[in-house]
Amino acid sequence: MSADDVILEQKVIQMIKRLLLILLILFVLIQFIRPAKNQSAVPSPGDIALHFHVPDSVSKILQRSCYDCHSDNTVYPWYDNIQPVGWWLQYHVNHGKHGLNFSEFTSYTPAQQVKKLKNIGNEIREDGMPLDSYLWIHRYATLSPEEKNLVVAWADSLRVRIAGPADR
Ligand code: HEC
Repeated sequence: MSADDVILEQKVIQMIKRLLLILLILFVLIQFIRPAKNQSAVPSPGDIALHFHVPDSVSKILQRSCYDCHSDNTVYPWYDNIQPVGWWLQYHVNHGKHGLNFSEFTSYTPAQQVKKLKNIGNEIREDGMPLDSYLWIHRYATLSPEEKNLVVAWADSLRVRIAGPADR
């Protein structure tokens, strides 16, 4: 190696060190930007189970597999405290809640409720929900074929009850 090569090599190493330091500082700084948690201290008065019949068997499945993203109460994993992972999780929760919130189900008009229930049946039948990225980590949230049938049958019957016989 010539003297020039050695100098160049040292410069490159120095640049990489500086870059790593900047990344480390950025990583530390973003830890302070924390999204508000989706956790409600009081039970939601608009919860679906307070106004409609949700059998225990169905309620358990919804709470286990859907409520993290479709209710006012998310059970957060420890790594939610590490950014940007926490941001990514919160994005899914906000997005999921916006589409469907079991805790605020009665704030929907009957027509919206019917549509949501129809979508629940469709999502489960087509394995669209829970999201795949969620199931990779939350294996326990996977629905067995029996559980799928149970939830779909419940969603269908409640939908017909709200819509009336015309929607059968
Ligand atoms: C990890 C978060 C997450 C979980 C868990 C989850 N969902 Fe979702 N869900 C979303 C997101 C995000 C959307 C909106 C974007 C989309 O449609 O892909 C959504 C959309 C939906 C919609 C469409 C809502 C509309 O606009 O009408 C339905 C229905 C639904 N989910 C049902 C379920 C059911 C039932 C479960 C449990 C078996 C479940 N989801 C579990 C994140 C989740």
